Amino acid sequence: MSLETIADEVLDAIRARGTYRHMRVLEGSQGPRVRVDGRDVLLFAGSNYLDLAQHEAVVEASIRATRESGCASGGSRLISGNRAEHEALEAELAGFFGCEAGLAFNTGYMANVGVIPSLLGPGDLLVSDALGHASIVDGARLSRADVRVFPHNDLDALETLLAAETGPARRTLIAIDGLYSMDGDVAPIAEITSLARRYDCLVLLDDAHGTGTLGAGGRGSAEHAAVDTGEIDILMGTLGKALGSFGAFVVGSHKLRDLLVNTARSFIFSCALAPPQVAAARAALNLVIAEPERRLALQHNAAALRNRLGEHGISTAPSTTHIVPVVLGDNATTMAICEGLLDQGFYAQGIRHPSVPRGTARLRITPMATHTESEILGIADAIADQVAKYPAESIPALETSPGQHS
Ligand SMILES: Cc1ncc(COP(=O)(O)O)c(C=O)c1O
Repeated sequence: MSLETIADEVLDAIRARGTYRHMRVLEGSQGPRVRVDGRDVLLFAGSNYLDLAQHEAVVEASIRATRESGCASGGSRLISGNRAEHEALEAELAGFFGCEAGLAFNTGYMANVGVIPSLLGPGDLLVSDALGHASIVDGARLSRADVRVFPHNDLDALETLLAAETGPARRTLIAIDGLYSMDGDVAPIAEITSLARRYDCLVLLDDAHGTGTLGAGGRGSAEHAAVDTGEIDILMGTLGKALGSFGAFVVGSHKLRDLLVNTARSFIFSCALAPPQVAAARAALNLVIAEPERRLALQHNAAALRNRLGEHGISTAPSTTHIVPVVLGDNATTMAICEGLLDQGFYAQGIRHPSVPRGTARLRITPMATHTESEILGIADAIADQVAKYPAESIPALETSPGQHS
């Protein structure tokens, strides 16, 4: 069988399911106004939430690091790639989160697929939320631990599962996202850490989207939930989203760091983050600390977006944050609305299975701290225009009460 035959078979099946994907090409600057596939549009599809990726201080720090130390780390951390700047970033992240130690990973995906097999093996148990990120699923697969999934944010189901399943397991790790990346709701972290204590489990909190954006000090979902980071055994965050750089980190105890340095394969067998990325992340962390107004502006914009969509009778449930979904249900409708929005000058990505469960295709709208009020209202009104083109009963996000679409 030829490669062409294999590719055709697989891709035809994907096309038949309506989930064929292609990559859009962005050019120019990284702010809220971007060029996508040759068109100037407003970006509502990125994770550069605080608009730090092109902040002068972040850019300057990365340029300086490039001049002083070059474009590459030149090796894995355990050979020749461990630089003083990595250690400084990790110490600063640990200090920021009030933890003993930190360890950088090359991406959030690599952090999860590295951490989980470092902690669990055959005979152990990973307990995961049904909407947990793909990297938690893949980390669990690599670990060869048993996996049990509880319905999204369902504490009763989680407790029932822990009561039934933790006994025979050697170790149990509960892995959750702090802020769910496709729904925009947060995990009940206080309740989950308390269940973890009762059933003697470890907790891995993946806070890819909460880092820098949630909590009064930007420490993320745990701070937002008034949970001390000491309650979280392994806190993972990313440097490539609100922190405007690239990479990820884990913070926790000295012992955790030591364990990961010695066992996390995605850490050991990969080149270290490059100096400009590390320098950019350090500069961005300083801005997260020094400029809380960015976080407040992001939260304000997200609330304004959710409110305006609500005024149009369009539900953004269950979002309470800057990740704002409008569930449209059908793949083709979702992608048609995504294209219609691009024609109107707005880029909000349509998301389909396998990123979300089948039948829940959606627009995922991610405002930034630096969108203006008229831009926020503009995309909400444009979404209402697009949605009005389809029969109301076919759109799950339409609330029945307001009537505009009935
Ligand atoms: C919840 C969650 N965890 C992990 C990741 C992976 O992070 P990275 O993009 O740095 O690989 C993502 C990426 O979007 C995410 O949403």
